[in-house]
Amino acid sequence: MRDLRHHGDAELAPGLVDLAVNVRADAPPPWLRRVLHDALDRSAGYPDAGPARAAVAAAHGRDGSEVLLTAGAAETFTLLARALTPRRAVVVHPSFTEPEAALRLAGHPVERVLLRPEDGYRLDPAAVPEDADLVVLGNPTNPTSVLHPAAVLAGLVRFGRVVVVDEAFADTVPDEPESLASRVDLSGLLVVRSLTKTWGLAGLRVGYALGPPDLVGALAGQQPHWPVSTPALAALCACTTPAARAEAADAARALADHRAALLAALPPGVVVEGRPESSFVLVRVPDGARVRSDLRERGWAVRRGDTFPGLSTDHLRIAVRDPATSGAFAEDLAAVLGVAR
Ligand SMILES: Cc1ncc(COP(=O)(O)O)c(C=O)c1O
Repeated sequence: MRDLRHHGDAELAPGLVDLAVNVRADAPPPWLRRVLHDALDRSAGYPDAGPARAAVAAAHGRDGSEVLLTAGAAETFTLLARALTPRRAVVVHPSFTEPEAALRLAGHPVERVLLRPEDGYRLDPAAVPEDADLVVLGNPTNPTSVLHPAAVLAGLVRFGRVVVVDEAFADTVPDEPESLASRVDLSGLLVVRSLTKTWGLAGLRVGYALGPPDLVGALAGQQPHWPVSTPALAALCACTTPAARAEAADAARALADHRAALLAALPPGVVVEGRPESSFVLVRVPDGARVRSDLRERGWAVRRGDTFPGLSTDHLRIAVRDPATSGAFAEDLAAVLGVAR
């Protein structure tokens, strides 16, 4: 059985360059640190979620009743598993494994729809069973970095079905063309968002979900009181302003250049899976377990692929970093593979 609870942070060790975790390396920026420090100074009282809920709602053109504030996107999956009793839950893989892990932990059977390399890991909506009443998938998808068209995902919506789109990496795509975060017309749609990747706040635990008020209310009903801390609420206010969103879009544009540099540097023998559009790329290499271990010897931590349903030990996920780091990594990868660059 694959370890659905394995995540990239488990691959890190002192002295290794982190290409295993998809958090932006040079964040949080100084202005955000000031916001957090100030919020810490105001943390004697219990948190007031009102301003952050209003800020998130305004950023996505939503009503406050459609906003669930969470301690990271991951919390939403546990809340869903506790609040819903799906008859036929379907998770589209390969993808982030927490949704399936949370559903299983709560005792719900889970079916997998496995996307195929020959399709570029793009979704064929016909592969989703018609009577599935819960469908979970990511956009862009971790670990394939594939960005599905919004229209395809919107087409999954059915009466009596909850469709969960994990958009934890949506803000790594300039201008978020395929995001469904502002779609209030799609009944049963829940969009899950995270602040932890782009803003370097994985340790703060902060995110939110957007959906119909009845579903948001059911999920909130599973939360403890004061689920999101004062510093996390301050981050939500600060990172949803137009200026912060513009900064995130700039970072996403720079990321696209850095991703192109990484892809160009990869040595022969490395197969890039799908069409990467996010802050990481999925590759396939021969003898992947040895390659990953030899890379560690040379100081590089990459994310193993084999804990993702549908992938194997030959799959590795590599975080996009600055071109100098990617170039140095590609040199060592070529040496490990025994190929010339
Ligand atoms: C696709 C995806 N969704 C959600 C999460 C969890 O994000 P958060 O840190 O906001 O809980 C991750 C973390 O790796 C992820 O890769």
